[in-house]
Amino acid sequence: MELPFSESFKIKMVEPIRKSTREEREAWIKDAKYNLFNLRSDQVFIDLLTDSGTGAMSDRQWAAMMLGDESYAGASSYYNLKNAIKNIIGFDYFLPTHQGRAAENVLFSALVKEGDVVPGNSHFDTTKGHIEFRKATAIDCTIDEAFNTTVDHPFKGNLDLNKLEYVLQKHPKENIPMIIVTVTCNSSGGQPVSMQNMREVYAMAKEYGIRVLFDSARFAENAYFIKLREEGYADKSIKEIVKEMYSYADGMTMSSKKDAIVNMGGFIALREEDLFKKASQFNIIYEGFVTYGGMSGRDMNALAQGLDEGTEFDYLETRIKQVAYLGNKLKEFGVPVQEPFGGHAIFVDAKRFLPNIPKEEYVAQTLAIELYKEAGIRGVEIGTLLADRDPQTRENRYPALELLRLAIPRRVYTNNHMDVIAVALKNVYDRRNEITNGYTILEEAPIMRHFTVELTPAVKETAE
Ligand code: F0G
Repeated sequence: MELPFSESFKIKMVEPIRKSTREEREAWIKDAKYNLFNLRSDQVFIDLLTDSGTGAMSDRQWAAMMLGDESYAGASSYYNLKNAIKNIIGFDYFLPTHQGRAAENVLFSALVKEGDVVPGNSHFDTTKGHIEFRKATAIDCTIDEAFNTTVDHPFKGNLDLNKLEYVLQKHPKENIPMIIVTVTCNSSGGQPVSMQNMREVYAMAKEYGIRVLFDSARFAENAYFIKLREEGYADKSIKEIVKEMYSYADGMTMSSKKDAIVNMGGFIALREEDLFKKASQFNIIYEGFVTYGGMSGRDMNALAQGLDEGTEFDYLETRIKQVAYLGNKLKEFGVPVQEPFGGHAIFVDAKRFLPNIPKEEYVAQTLAIELYKEAGIRGVEIGTLLADRDPQTRENRYPALELLRLAIPRRVYTNNHMDVIAVALKNVYDRRNEITNGYTILEEAPIMRHFTVELTPAVKETAE
């Protein structure tokens, strides 16, 4: 008999978590104004709010922390990280930052000006925020297949080359500081970009004289999907695939809190010395001196080790198989989920799940609240609350998809936890026809409202 699959680690340290009753949760979520960001973590049993900074570090990473060099300038930890980036990714120049959006802030300060356009594949919110803050425009060139949860496509993160070429032709080169390829594409559901697409985007970019940057938060998960799904890569190691991926980029921003399995950290890496020098000035102003940039030496050491572990096949297989395990359980129960499953999360299609909730009452948020009440599981709404209002008309922007994201932290939960999540969602699904009331907004911030929004259950006029 073939041995079944099992995790490529054993557990050395544990953190207790506590179950609660439905009555407790109903009171807590009401106090939290029906916003899951307002819950205290001890009111949550299984926390799937994000896979960012929530992973479990290895014994080797903790050991590396003890060797951290806290020198202000020229710390050995900086050189450890520089070497890891050179060896694993291939870029010569790098700047540490405290997290991914800080890398965007520093690099875009050097690159983006008013009136620019930045084509890409569904830019992540902070990336888009840093572009729009500089009065430039992010243009989404993702393939159409990405926006239908029922269409099967192995690389739903791909850029549509026709859409991209249209942007490159329409705007002068001076107004296109870069093309951003997000690997994997978080906003389209943690979907990967194929090596072929990266190669073709890079070739087109070079034809037009434009640089390509990878938003790299989940680059290793992307490499894993290439190995599994793209012809010609089955026998290559993840590290070989990663090297080839970055041969089609001129630079990168990185949120190390994802695929480098640290709790805080980020960086910029570049091929061009001139751009590195320009960005260094902004790093010093915003983050810190160029050899620490908002990170302590011990954190840089843990990150260097995390980059190595995060690009190992056994680790990635354990990680992505767990996400798929949850996805398959949900599918067995008939719960509508996005397919193929993403690398870091399962995305539940809330419109198909709760057809009785009108879009004005925040469908995915309603589902997130129901799941919390059911079993203390915290997911996150990727829907109308997140899409925010149109800056001009102040009307709600209703996105094509209303999703509940269940992001799985790395090396944290077991498959028993996945079983609990799946059954909890099944229970909600079984009573979906009784869920007819959504929520309305009591108070909201002018931008990024989803973090602080206050909600109340919608009251419907009952027919006489
Ligand atoms: N780019 C991508 C693709 C991301 O997913 C994130 C963060 C960032 C950039 C920003 O990095 O948080 O370190 O400043 N995503 C988190 C998430 C917040 O939950 O998906 P950061």
